[in-house]
Amino acid sequence: MVSTVMNFSIKIISGIELTKLTKSFREQVEVLDQKLMGYHWTKAQWEELWESPSNYCLALIEKDGLKGFSLWMHSDHWELLKITVRPELRGSGISQNFFNETVKAIKAEKVFLEVSVRNAAAISFYEKLGFKQLNRVKGYYRDGSDALKLVLTIDFLHNN
Ligand SMILES: CC(C)(COP(=O)(O)OP(=O)(O)OC[C@H]1O[C@@H](n2cnc3c(N)ncnc32)[C@H](O)[C@@H]1OP(=O)(O)O)[C@@H](O)C(=O)NCCC(=O)NCCS
Repeated sequence: MVSTVMNFSIKIISGIELTKLTKSFREQVEVLDQKLMGYHWTKAQWEELWESPSNYCLALIEKDGLKGFSLWMHSDHWELLKITVRPELRGSGISQNFFNETVKAIKAEKVFLEVSVRNAAAISFYEKLGFKQLNRVKGYYRDGSDALKLVLTIDFLHNN
């Protein structure tokens, strides 16, 4: 079911469009990540990510500008590695919409993720999306914080 998804894809706010993410947008994703996320990946880690056929980046693009992105890994299930949106756009439901449109586009039936117990905003966000806790892993992150492992089962019969 995922064969229609290109390796790296673009989400346009007015409707989803799955196309190859250009080099320029890849660089913008790296810069935005550096600016917004608490921990950063090295150039080598990004290169590995862009090259891997099991990783996907969905970029939220409006008027040619990058507003946010999500990174995914696909094996026998989908795992959400990161999602972020520019701070000035937050709180308007944009990320929820971005996530929901993405899971429809990639036809994910189950999504797994890990989140730090210290990231209260993200936990609320995932709860709002319907994620449920699977378990808690002690000292999972570099800062010593525990991780919550969450899962979302998507019911397409009720979602379309
Ligand atoms: C998590 C994040 C993507 C949420 O983005 P957002 O655009 O503000 O989210 P939305 O506006 O779509 O909010 C949807 C729901 O999530 C919850 N939520 C979002 N931000 C919240 C916050 N700061 N505090 C509490 N609940 C929050 C709310 O329930 C909200 O619904 P409501 O407005 O009807 O109450 C954003 O805060 C972010 O980019 N954070 C930094 C990166 C990060 O930590 N990502 C997650 C881990 S990789």
